[in-house]
Amino acid sequence: MDLSVLIGTLRLANPLIAASGCFGYGVEYANAVDLASLGGIAVKGLFLSEREGHPPPRIVETPSGMLNAIGLQGIGVHRFIAEKLPELRRQRAVVVVNICGTTIDEYVELARILSDAAGVAALELNISCPNIKEGGITFGCSLTGTHAVVSAVRKVTRLPVIPKLTPNVTDVASIARAAEDAGADAISLVNTFLAMAIDVETRRPRLSNIVGGLSGPAIRPIAVRMVYECRKAVKIPIVGMGGIACATDALEFMIAGATAVQVGTANFVDPFIWSSLVEGTRDYLRRHDIPRVAALTGTVDLTSREKQWISS
Ligand SMILES: Cc1cc2nc3c(=O)[nH]c(=O)nc-3n(C[C@H](O)[C@H](O)[C@H](O)COP(=O)(O)O)c2cc1C
Repeated sequence: MDLSVLIGTLRLANPLIAASGCFGYGVEYANAVDLASLGGIAVKGLFLSEREGHPPPRIVETPSGMLNAIGLQGIGVHRFIAEKLPELRRQRAVVVVNICGTTIDEYVELARILSDAAGVAALELNISCPNIKEGGITFGCSLTGTHAVVSAVRKVTRLPVIPKLTPNVTDVASIARAAEDAGADAISLVNTFLAMAIDVETRRPRLSNIVGGLSGPAIRPIAVRMVYECRKAVKIPIVGMGGIACATDALEFMIAGATAVQVGTANFVDPFIWSSLVEGTRDYLRRHDIPRVAALTGTVDLTSREKQWISS
């Protein structure tokens, strides 16, 4: 059974990656999970400098999901390289660094610094965080912004460049196309959906930031639809995510068009989820007599009438 997949030039042992912001910097889980057994780890989003993030409350549970407005709290790229990367290397983790900026120059600077750091496997460009005002999503919501960030980063690194798209747009496939045109090796989607919750007794917003990003099983069918739309629009690999909580959910994304998947919110429910994801995927391939997981990508079975209906 071959679980390996190819994301640009990067070969992953399996398609299951920990999603950014939901697995710390990876090292925090080293005593609970064999980090090398994951396809990869997308670490918490990094700016050039340290950030405090928003004040609490920053997380609210919602039906089948959660709402967060962490505000991209983080230790900054230099401390990450000095304090976290050596241990990730020792653990033989495949490290995808999620980078965030308020300007294109900041993304470029981060890409330069990380390209010189041993043990970084790929860069995921967070152009989609819905709960900070400056930068990020400002790029990810426009075709020209997406193109500009991706092509600027592309010029300064040989690492695989994976822009992470926001679902908070009307036509995600056109943003995917802009990323591909600018030289992205792959795209990842979705980041969280802009959302809000109010305590009716106090009439106060439940998050200090008023609005935040919705994740978890509640968003899964929308994310699957977006992966499907992007698969038809671009040739580069797609890393799909949004509410994956078991192997079946991961397989659904792959059949819709993802080459690999990320698992975020489910880590907060069950940090030991990883072995059941790998075993469940293996079991499915065995039952369906599919020797390579990569052969599943984009294999949703449509009749010619359904195809016509979808493209009309
Ligand atoms: C608490 C929290 C923090 C997150 N932080 C980041 C981040 O730093 N960078 C990023 O690109 N996405 C971040 N995300 C988004 C997730 O990586 C993922 O795209 C999203 O939650 C959907 O997947 P899920 O439903 O499996 O969680 C965060 C999500 C949560 C819940």
